[in-house]
Amino acid sequence: MVAIREYRDADIPICARLYYDTVININARDYTPEQIKAWSPEVWPDSFWRERFQRAHKVFIAEIENNIVGFSEYHADGHVDTFYVHHEHQGQGIGKRLMQRIEQEAAQTGVKKLYLEASITGRPRFARMGFAIVGEEVKEYRGAIFCQALMEKQLAP
Ligand SMILES: CC(C)(COP(=O)(O)OP(=O)(O)OC[C@H]1O[C@@H](n2cnc3c(N)ncnc32)[C@H](O)[C@@H]1OP(=O)(O)O)[C@@H](O)C(=O)NCCC(=O)NCCS
Repeated sequence: MVAIREYRDADIPICARLYYDTVININARDYTPEQIKAWSPEVWPDSFWRERFQRAHKVFIAEIENNIVGFSEYHADGHVDTFYVHHEHQGQGIGKRLMQRIEQEAAQTGVKKLYLEASITGRPRFARMGFAIVGEEVKEYRGAIFCQALMEKQLAP
């Protein structure tokens, strides 16, 4: 059973490790080794994540039996950022549960549209969650070029 809750400081090392493992095991199927090295060369320090999470409106944690299996940042304007599921728990509906929680948060605060910048890996999954591609963005990150799909989901009134 997947449970969703808000993050606490003690989650940070686990999220840092989860992110690293997911990029090198899952995203690596869709990106070149050079891109993966730029994206996630090491487990980012806790201070990096603490600062990120403090900037977000909310960070949601997905757990199965008290083990963290996913997390996502949500910003008050409907921006969904840093959406990662544990590499050993892909395709089990965890991403969908996290997104449902984000949609609930958006509904409670009157946000009518969610948007995100999707990785190649994320695109078909976010499409299944009701997002549509509305544009494309090419950006350089730590010396590698990444092409992200801009995706949006209109929320029911
Ligand atoms: C994107 C991500 C978070 C999705 O999480 P997930 O828990 O695997 O997703 P779910 O299991 O909830 O699946 C969501 C939908 O995508 C579908 N899906 C799952 N794997 C899929 C695949 N390989 N191809 C196409 N669709 C797929 C599921 O069937 C489901 O749709 P359905 O409910 O209509 O059947 C996860 O794949 C991930 O961590 N990717 C790597 C990190 C990343 O790129 N994050 C996005 C950054 S923008």
